[in-house]
Amino acid sequence: MRFRTVFRGSPPLLLFQSQSSWRFFSQLRSRPERSSFGIAFDIDGVILRGRVPIGGSPQSLRRLYGDSGTLKIPFLFLTNGGGIPESRRASELSNLLGVKILPSQVVQGHSPFKGLLKRFENELIVATGKGEPALVMSEYGFKKVLSLDEYAAYFDNIDPVSQYKNWTTEQAFNRCNISMDLVPRYNVFSDRVKAAFVISDPVDWGRDIQVLCDILRSGGLPAENNGHQPALYFAADDLEYQAAFPAKRLGMGAFRIALESIFNRIHHSALEYTSFGKPNPFVFKNAETILRQIQASCHDDNVIGIEDMVSLDFKTLYMIGDNPVVDIKGAQQAGHPWFSILTRTGVFREKENHAEFPADLVVDTVEEAVEYIMSREGNA
Ligand code: G3P
Ligand code: MG
Repeated sequence: MRFRTVFRGSPPLLLFQSQSSWRFFSQLRSRPERSSFGIAFDIDGVILRGRVPIGGSPQSLRRLYGDSGTLKIPFLFLTNGGGIPESRRASELSNLLGVKILPSQVVQGHSPFKGLLKRFENELIVATGKGEPALVMSEYGFKKVLSLDEYAAYFDNIDPVSQYKNWTTEQAFNRCNISMDLVPRYNVFSDRVKAAFVISDPVDWGRDIQVLCDILRSGGLPAENNGHQPALYFAADDLEYQAAFPAKRLGMGAFRIALESIFNRIHHSALEYTSFGKPNPFVFKNAETILRQIQASCHDDNVIGIEDMVSLDFKTLYMIGDNPVVDIKGAQQAGHPWFSILTRTGVFREKENHAEFPADLVVDTVEEAVEYIMSREGNA
């Protein structure tokens, strides 16, 4: 079935970027023209479903490169997903989509965790979720990080039903390359966990909820008492997302609700936590900063003076997403220069615009979104 394109209000007019002074204009005149717009692509439900490209994503991305294969239009991926380091995700995406993606073009839900390094660099922390959560945190520079798989494995019977899950124990130890006979890498029996990080969608909800409750209500030492709740961070708060299965899947936000409801029933004070990811406005601010750097590198202009930063302001930044309450709400809250485009390939499937968070434009696929952007920007 083919839906029509829906605009929010009347079709937007092209606006001309105003230079703040003639001096800047004259400085820029001799340089190659910079793109006055950039694009942030959501991944799940827009570019991929599971590991399969959708909506004409490979050919749409190719349009953003010049004939020689160099990047012409600044773009990045802005996903609430994750679980592997950005460098690895970039090469996975390059293989799946057939274009050269740089690690700097991949912003995952957990990417801002780097900003917590100062606070937890030498503290014992645990990380959970699909993929390689401990590796992600180690690559950010955290020195004492254990996956929840490894951490839980040091505590006999911490998961009372583990014997019914042969795969978990085996997988944890294969992954960590350790054996049951070895002593823990850190003194988990006396060293309190200072923070727990949910990096990506948890694999074993039951075990993770149990062990996180143990850590959080004991002050970082399971089975002990007394101690303030360690910090708890979620990379995102998506209730649902689009994966390979035709219907929406429960995301990290659903896991957070489950953990919080249980914790608040068994503990005297309410769970304290911080969630990152879209729709938080700082995610969009950060994306804008990265897009500026990519914009500069598109023009071999890596050394940017303070005056030039003024000239690097984007006229428009497009957010192409499938989830109204995450992608569209986020772009709307971020305000100028964000322009939101909602596709019908993921969480959102309606004919008309979303009622609560209407996008600036609704299209069927990412291919249609890129087509719209390129003709609007005169790059068709
Ligand atoms: O687990 C991934 C999901 O929550 C959302 O990913 O790319 O749609 O932001 P994305
Ligand atoms: Mg999505």
